[in-house]
Amino acid sequence: MDLIVARNRTDLVKARGGGSLALVPTMGALHEGHRSLIREARVRAEQVVVSIFVNPLQFAPNEDFSRYPRTFDADLEACQAEGVDVVLAPSAEDMYPPGSQVSVRSGEMGAVVEGACRPGHFDGVLTVVLKLFNLVQPDVAVFGQKDAQQLAMIRRMVADLDLPIDIVGAPTVREPDGLALSSRNRYLSAAEREVALTLSRALRAGAAEFAPSRIRAAATAVLEGSEVALDYLALVDPATFAEVGDTYQGEAVLAVAGTVGATRLIDNVVINLEPRVYA
Ligand code: PAF
Repeated sequence: MDLIVARNRTDLVKARGGGSLALVPTMGALHEGHRSLIREARVRAEQVVVSIFVNPLQFAPNEDFSRYPRTFDADLEACQAEGVDVVLAPSAEDMYPPGSQVSVRSGEMGAVVEGACRPGHFDGVLTVVLKLFNLVQPDVAVFGQKDAQQLAMIRRMVADLDLPIDIVGAPTVREPDGLALSSRNRYLSAAEREVALTLSRALRAGAAEFAPSRIRAAATAVLEGSEVALDYLALVDPATFAEVGDTYQGEAVLAVAGTVGATRLIDNVVINLEPRVYA
């Protein structure tokens, strides 16, 4: 089947098949990480829609909205190769016509960790994701675990606003040396890429420990003295993004963000903090 490119709701209605539908929201510049999300969507529904929209609402004025990579033709080829049925590529004017003013507020959870560094970011993300959900009306939507707080916030929105959509988180895809795939990696020079590896090294060092204080200390030791301009290292509850203490049990997310050269990168790992049983 040929890939259909939809620009708006009318195109989407025409392209809609009869069965279940999965949505993979993206900002384009598709890489292997996005392709893994598409494959996950493929096994979960009969029709797969990928949205490609660089959402101005989630970028602060000092961020990289204008230089964010836009590779539409290559993205279409990747979608075609992955058997995507429909690419939704709306214009900014279609998404936010003049006069638009109502938006989603991400609440307290949207103001911690990544949200503390990027005020308003999660309001922008949730607003566009809710609009995409309303346009596409998927049964399932697939997001990367790489943006762990985004995934948690979207789950929160779906619960709080009673949206009948199954949210699936898909594992982070990494280069063989550990670097998490990101559309922003293409900004890195070879030397910066070496520095960027400090992030995944720090996460691995943390994940090798077993108690929150030791996890934080091990990861911090790797980051200290590196050329990463650190924004945060946080060990948090994956559902609330509240910092966890030494008595916490269950899965925790060790999340890191920092700037390398002019490129801001984020990464995380999930660590199981179940009590250890020694034979
Ligand atoms: O993860 C992204 O690419 C974006 O934040 C998303 C979910 C497509 C919303 O613009």
